[in-house]
Amino acid sequence: MKAILQQIKEEVVAGFTACGYDEKYGMVSLSNRPDLCQFQCNGALAAAKEYKKAPIAIAGEVAEKLAANSMFSKCEACPPGFINMNLSDEFIAQFVSKMADDTERFGVDKVSSPKKVMIDYGGPNVAKPLHVGHLRSAIIGESIKRTARFMGDEVIGDVHLGDWGLQMGLIITELKLRKPELVYFDENYDGEYPTEPPFSITELEEIYPCASGKSKEDPAYKEAAMTATYELQHGRKGYQALLTHILNVSVTDLKRNYEKLDVDFDLWKGESDAQPYIPDMVQKMKDDGFAYISEGALVVDVKEDTDTKEVPPCMILKSDGASLYNTTDLATLVWRMKDYNPDSVIYVVDKRQELYFTQVFRCAKKTGIVPADKNLYFVGFGTMNGKDGKPFKTRQGGVMRLEYLLQEVEEKMLEKIKENGTMNDEEAAKTAQIVGLSAVKYGDLSNQASKDYIFDIDRFTSAEGNTGPYILYTIVRCKSILTKAGVSSFDGAILPAHSESERGLQLELTKFMAALASAYEEMAPHKICAYIYDLANAFNRFYHDTKILAEEDAAVKASYLKLLWLTRGVLEKAIDLLGFNAPERM
Ligand code: ARG
Repeated sequence: MKAILQQIKEEVVAGFTACGYDEKYGMVSLSNRPDLCQFQCNGALAAAKEYKKAPIAIAGEVAEKLAANSMFSKCEACPPGFINMNLSDEFIAQFVSKMADDTERFGVDKVSSPKKVMIDYGGPNVAKPLHVGHLRSAIIGESIKRTARFMGDEVIGDVHLGDWGLQMGLIITELKLRKPELVYFDENYDGEYPTEPPFSITELEEIYPCASGKSKEDPAYKEAAMTATYELQHGRKGYQALLTHILNVSVTDLKRNYEKLDVDFDLWKGESDAQPYIPDMVQKMKDDGFAYISEGALVVDVKEDTDTKEVPPCMILKSDGASLYNTTDLATLVWRMKDYNPDSVIYVVDKRQELYFTQVFRCAKKTGIVPADKNLYFVGFGTMNGKDGKPFKTRQGGVMRLEYLLQEVEEKMLEKIKENGTMNDEEAAKTAQIVGLSAVKYGDLSNQASKDYIFDIDRFTSAEGNTGPYILYTIVRCKSILTKAGVSSFDGAILPAHSESERGLQLELTKFMAALASAYEEMAPHKICAYIYDLANAFNRFYHDTKILAEEDAAVKASYLKLLWLTRGVLEKAIDLLGFNAPERM
C-alpha cells in the first residue's frame, strides 16, 4: 500500500500544479503542532520567492483547491503561509481497513528492487565467554536482519567467529600444562583423534582467563603461547585437532546462548575461514602497486582529500610477516564476494572500531576486493553501562556474562509474575523467559544504537513506560479482549472514528509503513520502538475511554474488534522484527 504521507503528497502536488505552481512545492510532513492539525505543507513559503507572491496568498489558493477533496476534513492556509490539513475520518478508516485486510503484511509492500545483503554481527570469540559487549551486536544485528528480510531483501547473517588468534595458543599452552599426556601434544601426532573433546565448556571457559592472566605476568608463558599459535597456524596436526575440539565445544555453547536470545545465524564462518585467501590477496595488492613497505610493515594508503581526521594507512602484514585483524577482515571480504556476491555488507560492531572499519572499507574498495558499486556499511553501537555510568559489571565487579544477565532479568520477571499469582509454576517460568527477553532487547533497541545506554533492570522490566513489557502488556490486552469477544474473522470495514481517542489510534496505525521504511533505510531499529510506543499509548488511551465489549451497536463493536485485531497484528509484527514475541497472557 502506498504510505499515507505519499498519498497526501500526491494530492497536494496536484493542488500546487492546478494552481500553476511547480510540483516541487508540494511537500508534506507530519504536523509539528498536532494540536492544530495532523499534517502540514510548508511549500508555499518556499514558492513565494520564485513566484514573487505573498506565501499566504499561494497557500490560500492551494488550500481552497484541496478543500473540496474528500481526503481532507480540513485544509486551510495559516499565516505566514502554512497549509494545515486534517484527513477525513472516512479516509483514515478506509486506509486502516485496507491495512487490516492485508493479514500478513498490514499494508507494508516489499521494496521494488530487493538487494542481497550480508550482515556481520554477533562476533563472539571462541573459547572466551560471551559477554554483554557481544549482546548488543547480536540484538541489533538480528533486528536489522529481520527487518531487511521482511522488506524483501535476501539476507545472509554471518556470526563471524573470532577463532584465529593468540587465545588459541593460550588455551593450548595451559592445556599442555594441565594434561601433558594428551596425544595432541605428541610432535609426531598425525591426525587421528578421538571424537570426545578433552575438556568441557566449563573447563574451557576457566582455562582461557587463567591462561590470559598468566601470560600477562610471565613473559615465558606468553612466548610459549605465541609459539603455539604460530605452530597451530602453520599446520601442526595435534594443535589443529585441538582447535577442532575447542571450536566444537565452544560453538555448541554459543549456539545454546544465541538460541536463548532468539538470535539465529545463517553462516557460522569465522576468522579462520579467511586465512586461505590471504596469500593471493596480499600478492595481488603488491602486484597492483597498492601495497608497499613502510617501517617494515606492508601497508595500503587509505586517506582521502576530504578527511577531517587523520586516517592512517591500512596495515596488511606486520614486519614479521604475520597477518592481523585487518588482513582477516579483508580476506573475509574476498570470500564473501566470491561465494555470495552481495550488494552490500553491513557490520554491526562496537563503535570504537569505526576508524578501523573506515580503513578496511577503503582498502577493500581501493584494491578492488569489493567493486565500486557495492556498499559497505558500519553500524557502530555504544557501550552498555551500569547505573553508575561505567561499563556494565557483575555485582562482584567482573565483566557480566550474558547468561547471568539474562538469568537475572528472568528472575526479576518471575518475581513480578508470582506477585500477581495467576499462573502455575510452569507457565510463570515460561512467561518470565519471554517477557524477560523483551525487557533486555527493547531496553537495548529503543536507544539509537550509536549511543551508550544504562542497563537499568528495574526500569527495563517495568510494565509502565517505554519498555518491552509495556508493549507486551498492550498486545496481551488486545488478545484477551479478542478472546473474550470470541470472534476470529473480521469481514466488515473499520468505521470512521467515534471519538478523539479512536481517531488518534487509527491515525497512529496509518504511520506503520513509514516507520518501517525509515527503520529499514537507516538500519535503525529504534525507529520501530519509537513507533510502537506511540501506537501502544494511542491504543491504551482508546481502551481506557471505550467500552468495547459492552458496545451495543453490533457494527460499531465489530469495527472496534477489527481495529483491535489490527493493532495487535501491527504490534506483533513489529516486535517480531525487533526479535522477541508476546506470551498468551501476563
Ligand atoms: N570478534 C570481534 C570482537 O569481539 C568482533 C568482530 C566484528 N566483526 C568483524 N568482521 N571484525 O571484538
